Amino acid sequence: MKALVLSGGSGTRLRPFSYSMPKQLIPIANRPVLEHVLMNIRDLGVTEIGVIVGSWAAEIAAVIGDGSSLGVRVTYIQQGAPLGLAHAVRLARGFLGEDDFVMYLGDIMLPDGVAEIAADFRARRPAAHVVAQRVPDPRAFGVVELGVDGAVRRLVEKPRWPRSDLAMVGVYFFTAAVHEAVAAIAPSRRGELEITDAVQWLVSRGRPVRATEYRGFWKDTGRPDDVLECNRRLLGELGGRVELGPMTRLVRSRIDGPVIVGANTLIEDCIIGPNVSIGRDCVLRGTRLSDSIVLDGASILEVPGMSGSIVGRSAVIEPAGSEAARYRLLVGDNTRVEIAPAAR
Ligand code: TTP
Repeated sequence: MKALVLSGGSGTRLRPFSYSMPKQLIPIANRPVLEHVLMNIRDLGVTEIGVIVGSWAAEIAAVIGDGSSLGVRVTYIQQGAPLGLAHAVRLARGFLGEDDFVMYLGDIMLPDGVAEIAADFRARRPAAHVVAQRVPDPRAFGVVELGVDGAVRRLVEKPRWPRSDLAMVGVYFFTAAVHEAVAAIAPSRRGELEITDAVQWLVSRGRPVRATEYRGFWKDTGRPDDVLECNRRLLGELGGRVELGPMTRLVRSRIDGPVIVGANTLIEDCIIGPNVSIGRDCVLRGTRLSDSIVLDGASILEVPGMSGSIVGRSAVIEPAGSEAARYRLLVGDNTRVEIAPAAR
């Protein structure tokens, strides 16, 4: 079995971070989302992985390389524009050949893994086997409708009036039968070749399509709050532990785990944690920080209470120079800043 990981796309929901880096490289517990995805696939015993990349191809290749540091072999497949998940399968035809494969979105986190579902697919080899989870509002997802016998009856992409609360999580197992389906479908109303339509094409032709409800943790890291929730979840696996990278110094500070800090970072006169990830080459001084992600090279000085925050690479947060200008902000496009409520 091979794997196809979707790591193109535009990432508009993760601005401003996605202006300067692809969302698949946002660190969760100090590891890019895409590395978590590749390790998850490796845990299924799959090492031949095609990675679909768009305009951030060079940045992704610089971090992931040929995959050998993760124990996999990565082949990059360039997608000129994000024309849909089924479009990506068309582009990967040569890489995939006649092999079965797992298709995995490059921006989702499934830390509990899908090993059982993979084993089920390998044993029965239906044309398609989709992974789904019940959600309170399925309108933003591809939705699976099951018949009384548990077989997949219908799939609809982002239905206005969903007839089921089973949403596809972004992991799909396919045999080579899917290639005929992705070749046959036309673009949807939003102009994309939808994988949901390709799977529906198989259902309509009576091909075997299965769905399994996955009950573990699943999160799409498309929005900042989701990124923070994933970070809490992964740090939770550390227990209450604190992990410090080489050359990182703690001076007169208290760390309440779980906290992870990269290399060569200085933390002085701070109270940090719980649920904080800090990258490498950062400086934190006189600051109290919880439930946040700080990317490489950032400085946070004299901030008395900061939480639920994501601080981008080499960003600087420091006291303003004068009483007259209590805040001096150089705020980029689509940035969000929340300040302390005014005293009344
Ligand atoms: P989405 O999150 O649905 O799309 P997006 O990346 O454009 O993000 P946003 O909605 O914030 O603008 O995509 C899911 C994953 O699939 C993501 O990792 C990007 C990837 N993808 C491709 O590789 N090619 C594509 O044509 C599309 C639509 C998505």
